[in-house]
Amino acid sequence: METQFKPNWTLLESLRNRFLSEEFSPTTSYWSTEEVLEQYHSTFAERIGWKWDAVLRDFETKLSQSSIVPKALLDWGCGTGIAALKLAEKFYRRGLEEIVLWDRSPASIRFSMKVIQNQFPLLKVRAWDCQEVPKDFVLVCSHILNELSSEAEKELKRIIDLSQWVFWVEPGTPEHSRKLIELRESLRSHFTVVAPCPHQLSCGLLDHSQKNNWCHFFASPPNQVFRDGFWKQFSQKLGIDLRSLPTSFLVLSKTALLDTKLSHPQKRVLGRMRNYKGYSLALTCSENGISQQKLLQRNSSQVIDLLRENEFSAWLP
Ligand SMILES: C[S@@+](CC[C@H](N)C(=O)[O-])C[C@H]1O[C@@H](n2cnc3c(N)ncnc32)[C@H](O)[C@@H]1O
Repeated sequence: METQFKPNWTLLESLRNRFLSEEFSPTTSYWSTEEVLEQYHSTFAERIGWKWDAVLRDFETKLSQSSIVPKALLDWGCGTGIAALKLAEKFYRRGLEEIVLWDRSPASIRFSMKVIQNQFPLLKVRAWDCQEVPKDFVLVCSHILNELSSEAEKELKRIIDLSQWVFWVEPGTPEHSRKLIELRESLRSHFTVVAPCPHQLSCGLLDHSQKNNWCHFFASPPNQVFRDGFWKQFSQKLGIDLRSLPTSFLVLSKTALLDTKLSHPQKRVLGRMRNYKGYSLALTCSENGISQQKLLQRNSSQVIDLLRENEFSAWLP
C-alpha cells in the first residue's frame, strides 16, 4: 500500500457495514466523495486484488499454453479499477491495448481511469459508452453480484454474450457460489469453462445431496501483510481476518482452448482440507461429481503437505 495513505477508520467502518448489510440504494451510489474511493482502493480493493492474484495464477499454465492475446478488456462495475489493474499487469506485455471501464458511478470511472493510467501510461483507457463493445474483448466482473438489480443482470447477460472471455471474481460465500454456478450452467453450452472446474459438465454441486457445500477457495495475502502495522490495525479495528480470503470465481472462454488440454485429469479440492488425528478429509470436484476423499497421514503425508502449501489450487489424482 502507498505510504502516504491515512486511514479514515470511521469511513472504512461504515463502508464495511454497508457491504455486510448488502443494502444498496438503487438510485444513490456509495461512492459519494473522492475520499471514499481512495479509502476503499487502499484497503478493501487491495484485498480483492489478492484474490485476483490467486485466480490469475490458478490458470496461468492454461493461459501460457494458449495463443490468447486479449486486445481489450471491459471492467463492468469497476469501482476503483482493481480488477482491470490486475488483468493489465497480466496481459500488458502480451499485447493488451485498451481498457474500457463501466460503473453506474461516473466518479468511480474517473477514479479508475486515473489509477490505471498512472500505472500504465501507454495503455488506452476510456469510459464505456454503453453501446459499442470492443472486438474480442475480455469481460471483467468483480464483487458486483449482490448489488445488481434484475435489469442490470439482464444488461450484463447481454454483454457476456458479446464477450470472448469472462473473468469473474466474487466473495466465497454460499450465496455468491450459487449465483456463479447458475451463471455457469446458463453459459456452458456456448463457452468453454476454463476455471475453476476440472470439467465441462453440469456442476456436481447442483445435486441435492450437496446442498451444504459450495464452490470456494482460499486465497492468501502476500506474506509481508502479516508483518505490516497498518494491516494489523485494519484487521483489529474492522474485525477482518487477514488470513482468510474466501473466493468464488469463474473463467469462461469462447475460444476453443480444449486443444491445450483444458480438461484437467484430476480432482479439484474445494474449500479447505480438514485435518484430523492421523488423516485429512478433502471435498473434491471432478467430472464424476463431488466426493469426499480421505487421506491417511501415514501414506499421504507428502500430498497433504502439498495441498496445504497451495490450498487455492489444490488437486488430487
Ligand atoms: C463492491 S464494488 C466492487 C468494485 C470493483 N469491481 C472491485 O472489485 O473492487 C461494486 C461496484 O458495482 C457498481 N455497480 C453496482 N450496480 C451497478 C450497475 N447496475 N451498473 C454498473 N455498476 C454497478 C458499484 O457502483 C460499485 O462500483
